[in-house]
Amino acid sequence: MIEFIDINKIFKNNIVLHDINLKIEDNSITVFVGPSGCGKTTTLKMINRLIKPTSGKILINGEDISQQNLIKLRRGIGYVIQQTGLFPHMTIRENIELVAKLQKMSHTERDLRVKELLEMVGLDYDTYANRYPKQLSGGQQQRVGIARAFMINPDIILMDEPFSALDPITRSQLQDELINIQTQTNKTIIFVSHDMDEAIKIADKICIMEKGKIVQYDDPETILKNPINDFVSNFVGTNRIWSSPEYIKVQDIMETDPITCFPEISLFKCIRKMKHERVDSLLVVDKKNKFQGVIKIKNIQKEPDHYKQVKDIMYVPEYTTSPEKSILDVLKEVNNHNISTLPVIDQDGILQGIITKSSLVTTLSQQFDFSIDDE
Ligand SMILES: Nc1ncnc2c1ncn2[C@@H]1O[C@H](COP(=O)(O)OP(=O)(O)OP(=O)(O)O)[C@@H](O)[C@H]1O
Ligand SMILES: [Mg+2]
Repeated sequence: MIEFIDINKIFKNNIVLHDINLKIEDNSITVFVGPSGCGKTTTLKMINRLIKPTSGKILINGEDISQQNLIKLRRGIGYVIQQTGLFPHMTIRENIELVAKLQKMSHTERDLRVKELLEMVGLDYDTYANRYPKQLSGGQQQRVGIARAFMINPDIILMDEPFSALDPITRSQLQDELINIQTQTNKTIIFVSHDMDEAIKIADKICIMEKGKIVQYDDPETILKNPINDFVSNFVGTNRIWSSPEYIKVQDIMETDPITCFPEISLFKCIRKMKHERVDSLLVVDKKNKFQGVIKIKNIQKEPDHYKQVKDIMYVPEYTTSPEKSILDVLKEVNNHNISTLPVIDQDGILQGIITKSSLVTTLSQQFDFSIDDE
């Protein structure tokens, strides 16, 4: 864990960081976002001691980094910046292995590692290892920058707007690859961006900064759904949640008052209720609102004996859903199995609501209409 305790930074009478207190979990991607000049780079550079706090301290795994040997500290931290910082007169291989060479890693071991890392970032070793940086595209150079940061296998990787100079397609590919690499290598990645879309896509936690202060530090979903103040909502962008439909849950759009009946009532009463409520099916629940099944008017019509009880002819539907499910998953299910309604049941079997295909489609298409109106 990386811990910022009461960190302040003053540059020439200018307070650029105020009382930063923050805990960054291991094995995750944390993204710092915020407007230009808010202090993201300054915060990042304190972790590898490129910048010294005016007051306060930073602990890595409980140890105060200001007390650590600088070389040892930096050996455990990879660093990737926007301008890649590759040496133009060195080949790709030489650039990647530089630090390992200084640390006297053997030639064979280095070579194996370079191969492995180029593969990890999607570059062919035979094609690229002996080229010079200027013979690579910007995106390829940035991949090399990432490979280099991983060379001596540090636990922590700092990345300062590494993708911001890339075209949107390359950028999106590298974001995907970064997520993969993080999952495979279990590194702690701290990433600076001023792009909220990028943050939402890659982050486990987002730290939003404004004028040297942390405004909100949360997982992407919470930030989208519960921005803490106007600054965050403006920064996130209103309706942003709708451009990330994977964060919209069944509970956000379900109808919470479905029309229900008890299993013991007669079919007569059941029909009366359907007529009164103008519906052609009812959800059946027990006295504790535990879901039992569904009854439809067409099933009742086939049954000559209307003195029978609901429980005699109700059925248990093949598909139900739960409040935490993403509506994208539900939409897939609804389309694949041609379902028109889905009871929403929590983990204790209690009926929480109902989702209809039309409400799903309306929810998604409304947003589509909104975005057209906006233009
Ligand atoms: N070496 C320095 N001397 C004086 N002021 C500095 C120095 N480095 C940064 N600052 C100031 O500190 C503030 C925070 O800078 P920082 O580079 O951390 O911002 P940032 O959030 O990374 O911005 P950007 O998105 O533009 O990269 C800015 O107001 C900047 O002008
Ligand atoms: Mg910066």
